[in-house]
Amino acid sequence: MTEEKNLKIRSETIADYAGIAAVNFAAFGMTEESSIVALQRQSENFDPDLSLVAEIDGRVAGHVMFMPHRVQLLGETVRAVNLAPISILPEYQKKGIGGKLIEAGHNLAREKGYDFSFLLGHPTYYPRLGYLPNAYGFSTLKATVGFSRPGRDQSHDLPALTTRPVKQGDGPTLYSLWRENFLPEVDFSLDPGEALVEWVSPNPAVEALAFLSEDGSEIVGYCRTRKATPEKPIMFLAKDGAVARAMLELLAEKKAEQGEASAVEFELPLHPSARLSAELGGGAHCRTGIYTMACPLRPSLFDEYYAQVNAGERPPGFPIWPTAFELS
Ligand SMILES: CC(C)(COP(=O)(O)OP(=O)(O)OC[C@H]1O[C@@H](n2cnc3c(N)ncnc32)[C@H](O)[C@@H]1OP(=O)(O)O)[C@@H](O)C(=O)NCCC(=O)NCCS
Repeated sequence: MTEEKNLKIRSETIADYAGIAAVNFAAFGMTEESSIVALQRQSENFDPDLSLVAEIDGRVAGHVMFMPHRVQLLGETVRAVNLAPISILPEYQKKGIGGKLIEAGHNLAREKGYDFSFLLGHPTYYPRLGYLPNAYGFSTLKATVGFSRPGRDQSHDLPALTTRPVKQGDGPTLYSLWRENFLPEVDFSLDPGEALVEWVSPNPAVEALAFLSEDGSEIVGYCRTRKATPEKPIMFLAKDGAVARAMLELLAEKKAEQGEASAVEFELPLHPSARLSAELGGGAHCRTGIYTMACPLRPSLFDEYYAQVNAGERPPGFPIWPTAFELS
């Protein structure tokens, strides 16, 4: 490992933005990660101190972003950071710079009171920096909804909902719906807050729909989904089980418009502990793996959560990633 003599690790400034974008492009060979960095800067959670650059001879040679989050664990809200993305200019890779950036970020996050760092990443690289595997999972609940065409024969006991795109002013209502759906039960839930950018996607191929009550006066459901795959929502919130089923019928109609068969198999982003999972008949499954990692920064509730998950006493938690990660 070569030591870079003029290496300086420091927090980003606005003057670094172009250099950081260039490093991300060079390291990943595409612009998606630099866009993710730019989008994360728009979040209310963003802390520029935790977006670190490795500067060599006055040039940005590496970058890492640690994004602050409020995370649900064992019924409480704790503070953690998400490491994403990290990039080193190809000519400076494998010289220990990535490791130094991550260590510096951990130290700063620890000083700022964050309990742990989490990421989705390569299982041979991050463990040497303290990351543990199987820290969280991806959860789905499968539900089949049939329909008849043409026209719809909606079940009569379900509310007749209407939909519209999410718009300015919806944030607080959607946030309280999110709280009702995921708190306090669902471990690793990432608190989206009220800002509109957390509820609408930067990707035009993803639509964010508000579902309105029969009289149109109240938002009773929310679904963010790729238009091409309404049966696999990214986020799905409903006031109760009847609303959820009515939402599924409307989403099944969208799928029917795409010329599919007479029933739609949904994969809903719901955790076994989510209230809605039980109301939809249960059967949610959360799978974890070696890519879903977290690094404790100090003794905290995370240790207890991790011990329980790995002893099989509790299902792994389930984060739904911020809209900034929906570009592809
Ligand atoms: C991943 C990356 C940030 C690591 O930074 P770095 O400064 O090169 O890493 P370090 O010098 O601290 O560590 C180097 C070690 O990590 C390993 N490593 C680097 N990238 C790796 C990867 N993607 N997967 C697994 N191991 C990796 C190297 O093989 C090396 O191992 P060795 O010491 O046994 O030879 C950098 O290689 C990079 O920018 N890669 C392209 C972008 C990327 O993949 N980002 C991470 C997405 S999860």
